[in-house]
Amino acid sequence: MTKLILRALAGETLATPPIWMMRQAGRYLPEYRATRAHAGDFLSLCYNPELAAEVTLQPIRRYGFDAAILFADILLLPQALGAELWFETGEGPRLSTITTMAGVQALKPKDAIHETLAPIYETVRILARELPRETTLIGFAGAPWTVATYVIAGRGSKDQGAAHALKSADRATFSALIEVITEATIDYLSAQVQAGAEVVKLFDSWAGSLKGQDFQDFAVKPAARIISALKAKHPGLPVIAFPREAGAGYIGFAQATGADCVAIDNSVSPEWAAEHVQPGGCVQGNLSPTHMVTGGQDLVDATRRVVDAFKGGPHIFNLGHGITPDASPDNVALMVETLRRG
Ligand code: CP3
Repeated sequence: MTKLILRALAGETLATPPIWMMRQAGRYLPEYRATRAHAGDFLSLCYNPELAAEVTLQPIRRYGFDAAILFADILLLPQALGAELWFETGEGPRLSTITTMAGVQALKPKDAIHETLAPIYETVRILARELPRETTLIGFAGAPWTVATYVIAGRGSKDQGAAHALKSADRATFSALIEVITEATIDYLSAQVQAGAEVVKLFDSWAGSLKGQDFQDFAVKPAARIISALKAKHPGLPVIAFPREAGAGYIGFAQATGADCVAIDNSVSPEWAAEHVQPGGCVQGNLSPTHMVTGGQDLVDATRRVVDAFKGGPHIFNLGHGITPDASPDNVALMVETLRRG
């Protein structure tokens, strides 16, 4: 029998939606913290195939999720292109910044990325061997705009101000950077698929700050290019796109990009998404991650509300964004039990 996630991605409406969770391998789990402590820092964990596969499997063992997502990070790709990357404890990622055409041109050619990313493909191969038969393996990359925001600012930011500033001040450099990331992303995801990823997801976490024509040019177009190139190389490959906080931009996003499923964040209601986005195909989402911290009857009610809103069409249950480190593993169990037992 075909895996539940693949059935939903093919457009089937299932009585109980399949479930997985963004950032399901993470610091809210004691077993993750133990493996992470053993590996050293976060990047050492990402580049250690045995340990990265181990933390990917932990939430599958604990909860029996329908999908496992490769344990890695969206910033490994710019690192493989030559940007320096490190993580400041308690603060998040830092990168050497690229804001000039000379900086873009100094990046490595896309063929060179596999040298750095080989351990990631090895993690995928281990997972393809070790996952339960019913579990779908999802590979991923950041969407070009989101990756560019980190490369341009050298860190995360609330408003992506540095990237917007470069986009206005030096459109040629900005567009060249988007182009380099777009083409490298195709090769990175294609290599994940060759290693055994069954589905890929594009994370555009900062799509919500692109408005009007910018949304078309830098969220829709790069996603459409990546998805059409991947599907040409891997016919039938299902793709999930996550243009987070796109609002009205979610409408028609699947059609405009060729994505098989659009992941919805929790800034829109499930009823709105069911009415406006789900007619275009499978949707994923969109329980607020805060319920994983607070739990209780509110969590049960909110889980049922999401299931109920999307029950008329293809749906993969998920959170609207990643689970946070302060979440309780028991609340995750309650969500899964509520979904599967009704
Ligand atoms: O979803 C998963 O479980 C798969 C693994 C995964 C990670 N990051 C692991 C991670 C995925 C899919 C990502 C994507 C990612 N990384 C995004 C897009 C999705 C989103 O959350 O919006 C972004 C913007 C990043 C960049 C990044 N990585 C930031 C900003 C941070 C620091 C914030 C934080 O949570 O600490 C990271 C670190 C990171 N990536 C962690 C994990 C498990 C925490 C690292 C740790 O163990 O200390």
